[in-house]
Parts: sequence; C-alpha cells; structure tokens
Amino acid sequence: MLRFSHPLRRDGLRGLIFLAITAASSTVWAQTSPAAKVDPLVDSLTLRQKIGQLQQSNAEPKTIADISDELRAAIREGRVGSFLNVPNPEVANELQRIAMTESEAKIPLVFARDVIHGYRTIFPTPLGQAATWNPELVEKGARVAAVEASSMGIRWTFAPMIDISRDSRWGRITESFGEDPYLTSVLAVASVRGYQGKEGDPTSIAATAKHFVGYGAAEGGRDYNVTYIPEPLLHNVYLPPFKAAVDAGVMSIMTAFNDLNGVPASGNDYIIDRVLRREFGYNGVIVSDWDSVLELIPHGFAEDKKQAARIAFNAGMDVEMVSTTFQENLFSLLDGGKVSESELNAKVSRIIDMKRKLGLFEQPYVSGDPEKAILTDEHKALAEQAALESLVLLKNDKQVLPLARGKTVALIGPLAHAAHDQLGSWVLDAKKQDSVTVLDAFRKILPESKLLYSQAMYSSRSRETDFSQVLELARKADVIVFVGGEEAVLSGEAHSRADTRLPGTQELLVRELKKTGKPLVAVLMAGRPLALNDVISEMDALVMAWHPGSMGGPAIARLLMGDAEPVGRLPVTWPKVTGQLPLYYNRPSSGRPAEEGNFTQMDDFPLEAFQHSTGHKNHYIDIGFKPQFPFGFGLSYSNAVYSDLKLSKKTIGVNDTLEVSAKIRNSGKRPVTETVQLYIRDLVASSVRPVRELKNFQRVTLKPGEAKVVKFKLTKDDLAFYNQQLNWVVEPGEFHVWIAPNAEEGLQGQFTVR
Ligand code: NOJ
Repeated sequence: MLRFSHPLRRDGLRGLIFLAITAASSTVWAQTSPAAKVDPLVDSLTLRQKIGQLQQSNAEPKTIADISDELRAAIREGRVGSFLNVPNPEVANELQRIAMTESEAKIPLVFARDVIHGYRTIFPTPLGQAATWNPELVEKGARVAAVEASSMGIRWTFAPMIDISRDSRWGRITESFGEDPYLTSVLAVASVRGYQGKEGDPTSIAATAKHFVGYGAAEGGRDYNVTYIPEPLLHNVYLPPFKAAVDAGVMSIMTAFNDLNGVPASGNDYIIDRVLRREFGYNGVIVSDWDSVLELIPHGFAEDKKQAARIAFNAGMDVEMVSTTFQENLFSLLDGGKVSESELNAKVSRIIDMKRKLGLFEQPYVSGDPEKAILTDEHKALAEQAALESLVLLKNDKQVLPLARGKTVALIGPLAHAAHDQLGSWVLDAKKQDSVTVLDAFRKILPESKLLYSQAMYSSRSRETDFSQVLELARKADVIVFVGGEEAVLSGEAHSRADTRLPGTQELLVRELKKTGKPLVAVLMAGRPLALNDVISEMDALVMAWHPGSMGGPAIARLLMGDAEPVGRLPVTWPKVTGQLPLYYNRPSSGRPAEEGNFTQMDDFPLEAFQHSTGHKNHYIDIGFKPQFPFGFGLSYSNAVYSDLKLSKKTIGVNDTLEVSAKIRNSGKRPVTETVQLYIRDLVASSVRPVRELKNFQRVTLKPGEAKVVKFKLTKDDLAFYNQQLNWVVEPGEFHVWIAPNAEEGLQGQFTVR
C-alpha cells in the first residue's frame, strides 16, 4: 500500500498536485492550523466592537422609516457586524451610513441574503442546474445572481449548498447538486467563481459553502434529523466538495443544523477546527446557521446560552447568525478565561478580511440603478439556456417527441401555468409575473386552434377525482402534454416527504389521460426525483424539468417542439419506489450483490419460487435492486454510440498517468450533446470500495454521422481514497474503468496498478 500526504489542490479539481509520497502513515488531521493573521484594525477596537463583528442580525426594515432607534444605536455602538435580509438599497445605505459615519470603529457592514438560484432572474434549482453537467453555465448563473443581488446592496450569499444528498425524501435535495462528490465538487467550484467574480469588484459577492457537514445524510431523509457518518465515508464522500470550495477561495462556510455522530455541527471542534482549519487550511469566515448556536441547548449539548457560546466559539465559529449568545456572554467568558482574546482577534480579522476583499472599505455604499442590472435580456437568455440544459429526457417511446408539427396539443396539468411554482424553493426576491410558463410559451408557438389547455387540478396536491371535462378536452387533441409534479412548497427546507410519489390525485389523472388512447407526454416539475413505479408505463415520453425557474416555459416548449435538443443528465439516482431510499450508484460492493437477470417481477411468481430464482441477494423481493433510472442517465433525440475503448497501458505505476479514450459516434439524424462519463472501480482494497465512482466527464457535441474520440487522463489522485486509518492511499491491484453514458452502462476496461 502506498500512502500519500494530503493532496494540495491547485487550479480547480483537475491538475492536482501531490505532496511527496511518504511511506509513513499520517492521519489527515495531524497538520497545523493556518496561522491566524491579525488585521491592524483589530488593535484599535474595543471588546464590544470586536464582539459586535461576530454578530449577524436579521433585520427587515422595509423603509428608512422602519429603522428603529434601537437598531440605529446597535450599529452606532458597533454591536453588529453584518445583517441578513435587507433587500433594499436605500435601507442598506442608511444602515451603512450609520456604521461609517456615526460609529467609532467605522467598519463597514455587509449585507447577506439567501440568493440560491438567482435573485430576480431565477435559474433552475441547484439540482436542476446540476442536471446540466455544465460548470460554465453554472458559473454564469451564479454571476448573474451576483450582479443582480449586488445591485441591491447584497454582498454575501448563502450558496452554494453542497451537501451530498442520497435520499430524495429530504426536501433540501432540491438545493443540492445531487449525490455525487465529484460532480458536486466541480459545480461547487463553478458556483464559487461565479458568485465571487473578481476580488474588489462591486458585483463580487461572498459565497458560502454550506452546510458543514453531513446535513444531507439526515436519517430517514427527515430535515434536521441526526446524522451518523463514519469518518472514512465523511472524508471520501461528504467532505470533498468542501475541500474543492476551499481551494476555489470560498469566502465563507456555514455550519449545519444536524448533529454529526453525536456532536452538533455548529459546536463540533473536530470538523471545524481539525478538518476545516487544519486539514484543509481554510482561513475564511465560518458562520453558523440561523440560531444553530442557540440550538446547542435543545440538542442537549449545552445547558444554557453561556455554555452554547463557549462551545461554539471554541469549536471555531466566527459569526453567529441571528441568535445572540456570543453578544450576551463573551464578555464574561473572556473575563473568566473560558475563551481567549487572541482567538477573538483572529475571528474579527477574518471577518474584516472578507469585508476588505469585497472592497467595502473603499466603497461601502451601493450605487447605480438596480433596474439596469436586473432581469436584463441577457440574464433571461442565460436562465432559459440553463433551464433548457437542465431538462432530462427520461423516456421517449416510439419517438413521440419531438412533437410533430401541425398537430393539436392538449396541455393539461397543475404546473402547466404555475408562474410561482415553476420557480421552486428559495426565491425570496422573485416575482411570479416575471415567469414565463409552459402555457405562455406554447401560446406563442402554436396557433390558438391547435392548443387546448386545462389546469385539471387546483394544485399538485389536490384530490380531484372527476376529470370528465379534462378528458373531453384531451380527446379533441392529437397529443397530450401533461405538466405535473410537485409545486414549489413540497420541497426545500423543512419540506421532506415520506412518500415521494406524484402528490394528490395526479397518478389517477395520468391513468385517465392515457385511456383516451392519445400519445401522452409527461413533463414533471419537482424538487426531487419522484417515485413513478405505478404510473410510468402510462407515459409515452417523460421529461424531468426540476423547478426550471423564470424561463422554464420557453425552454420546455422549445424542447418538446424539437427546436432544441435534450442534453440534461440525472445528477441523482432515480428510485422506482420511495422504499428504495437511500439510493445512490456509488454504493459499496456487497458480499451478495444482486445481478441483472436474476430478478423477475414478484407478481409473476409464487413467492417461494421467486425467492429461489433470485437467491439470497442484495435486493428487495418486491422491487429488485435497480433504480428506475441510473445516475448520469438521459436520452437525446439522436443516438450516441460508444466504441473503441482504448487504455494507453495495461499496467501502470502509482505515479503514472493512464490515458483512456473511446470513440463516440452520432448514429442518429439530429445533433447530439453527449455527456461522456468516466468511472472506475477498485476491485480489491483494504476497505470495501464503491461499485463505481465518477472521476471525470466531458460534454461533446456531434453532428449527425459525426464521431469524435474522447480522451481522459487518470492519475493517482483519481485512484486514491481515505482508508480506515484516514490515510490517503492508492492500493496496487486491479481496477475497472468505464467510459459510459451513465452509471450502469458503458465500455468497460481493466488495468493494473503496480
Ligand atoms: C436556514 C438554512 O438552513 C440556511 O441554508 C439559510 O442560509 C439560513 N437559514 C439563512 O436564511
């Protein structure tokens, strides 16, 4: 076994540079904390002013007149360092004026807000953006959000959310980039770059990688629930996106609500101090989640606010969001020697450093005309492009899509004209009148006589059962386009679902529509993959649209009409039924793996015979082991054929680079953009390794008949993992490698590491 010290990552994710290979075992945390540099300004501050920098307050004065005397006094006395939720430039400027001219310290405030997938121009939810597998587009989307938000005085966002999400019951999966550590890492870097732009630029806003760490592993997919993550898993799966964000220069990191292996993340010195500060060398700001320091009390981890403040402070927290345990207790904790002033100075320095990098000392006020920055044609065009590339064509029997020209379309369903719901979760500043719905878009494309519309149900959750009028309308059409799924409120924070099927009576509606005998195209908008086992056979075509944002309507209409090609790929494994969750492609190898071919539908067999036929394998007897659709899956209107897998060598040394290539040919009649995925499997190791792991991907566009050779490089960085002792190791032996269209198919090769 060869052990490495931790890789130093430069230049994004690829091109990783390793420190010298060492035969000695060294645990990942045995590294020193980055030297805390103290800002010269800190010496001139009083204790109160220092503690004030650590406070982030929620204040929503809508107008200057709403600013209370108490709030003015708090700023004047330096009792607050940042605000969240002041989305009004005049109010922000007035609060800033007090800080800059009436306070003694004259440290600018910074205004924060959850700008998650757009400010006014709303892009697809992060899960939808992940389905684009297009980091450049994700970066541009974050840039648009930053330009719009900064025009309102917002210079700090709480995004990207990079929690690995393997359980789609969890409502916040919609805010994530899905289940894969590599894809999430790549998109985390893109997103940080987009938000932060150039240092000192007035449109640069501080990004926040959140929630540190493991929040997506909430047991049972129930929000705020306990998480248990063994350390090798933490290091191999949950931490890499945060490491990538740190290396990309993310200015802040938010701690999570959950307790991790018994210690609340917001008071967890192991993850904050040892992992983030020492192992990753992170020198930026660490901010709590809303009240999460105070919540150490209901967690039963602190007996009162004073103890909560001490634990969080000493664990490494810099900024306390909303709750005021620091403000109330740090004087006496300092006095009693329970926390140190040098630590306080380091925290204040990090906060001031962030404000300096944002250029707030030079330009504390927001100027310019937000109207010119917001909802520009360019922003809307980008949002439409992102929506288009997020659409995943999952099924297309008998090529029902693209829709034939000149036919009558019946557009039916609760989300076909749902301007608010198509925006999804976390759209604090969006206005539904800025959305273009699917109905709006079809009205522009089709003549009135060729378009029929019915909402069919009051909402995605409602339980109508009489669809007679809808069916009458459907019978008059040549093709039915059903637009359903989950309205926005069914996903997001505190909106986990125990049953992830189509809500309300939508399954019934789909069955009834199918009975008309018309081709049925389903377009689903939802915050998560939906369990469609009971209804998918009724759908001739299926397009997953996530919550596509302001411009979702035109994107969907263009795709359905064949004015654009489907390019999206799943960033999550799609279950057949909720009971399969948690479900993810990179599962560790089982001692009794289920195999393709030994599973037959239970209905066809007496149970005994069925069990006999399937054996004692790693599956469910009623649903097997396969997902509905694998991670990475997505169809196009054309056909990409993979061939000629080539490996530059059969055997490599640990320091060698292996080149893997394959030919991708468009054998269809339309252009295709294929997301070519590179997976590996370490066949025998000292820890059970995943059956596949994504290591890279490339998007390649091919004209009909065109072929291209796609080449990847595999280095030791791709082959290494954290073993049981938390050493970063490559273990010599056999590896499988795939160049593949998704996590279940592809061309498979084999090589040996000496
Ligand atoms: C709670 C959420 O967990 C977090 O993601 C968000 O940024 C904060 N509230 C601030 O609104």
